[in-house]
Amino acid sequence: MAEASQIERLNRAHKSVADCVGAPVEIAIVLGSGLGDLARGIKDATIIPYADIQGFPVATAPGHKGQLIVGTLHGRRVAAMQGRLHLYEGWTPRDIALAIYLLDRLGSTTLVVTNAAGALNPDYRPGDVMLIEDHLNFTGTNPLVGPNDGEIGLRFPDMARAYDPDLLELATDAADRTLQPVHRGIYAGILGPSLETLAERRFLRAAGGDAVGMSTVTEVIAAAHAGLRVVGISAITNAASGWADEHSDTVEEVFAHTAVSGEKIDSILQELLPLLPRRLD
Ligand code: HPA
Repeated sequence: MAEASQIERLNRAHKSVADCVGAPVEIAIVLGSGLGDLARGIKDATIIPYADIQGFPVATAPGHKGQLIVGTLHGRRVAAMQGRLHLYEGWTPRDIALAIYLLDRLGSTTLVVTNAAGALNPDYRPGDVMLIEDHLNFTGTNPLVGPNDGEIGLRFPDMARAYDPDLLELATDAADRTLQPVHRGIYAGILGPSLETLAERRFLRAAGGDAVGMSTVTEVIAAAHAGLRVVGISAITNAASGWADEHSDTVEEVFAHTAVSGEKIDSILQELLPLLPRRLD
């Protein structure tokens, strides 16, 4: 049997959740490594395990649960992916895109994407938060490779403002209201799962990266394809500056710091969600 097209996969996935989702969603949220607890505040939640969504990949990464949570967060109707899908787990870029297309199909106009990332910028500290201005795709792949589904988006989507500049201003205002100092910077996305060599870290910094991680870029390309407006927020979990005196990072340390940045991101979302536009203008 020929491989199903993205639109066929999307239709099937949507059909399997449409009945339990109810009213359209306004805002989609992807919760990063160690940031799943941000879903705690979702009220009147409907929880849909990925295994119940037809054709949907099931997350296996540590710190990721693997369920879609639909409900109300800070007064807005949201669908949150608690359990992100990573290329390093073996999912294809198109699998990852499918999840974003589903969030779009549920009615979202905005995607809030969060992640855990290592600091390339020497001014950043573990526990800090970075609002993403732009990204560098060093994964070596792209979710739009292959036939284009014109029903989803353009063959050659523009990535020049993939992280919506107006929403970045809103996120900055929201962070100001929480009195949390935040950085604004460039996220360098790598394939993983091995962490970077010291030379790679210096290279990523020289290329303009402020933080490095193993997610986000694939999702944001899919979001741009589908016409979703994106806000990106990184929890800085470790220094990845590239000098030999740096001690190696353990996953435990990384998660300990997501707890610190996660609380800050939680309070930023509390301010930001009510400010996000109600529909595309
Ligand atoms: N490198 C890549 N991914 C990461 C890191 C890092 O240092 N920290 C958290 N995710």
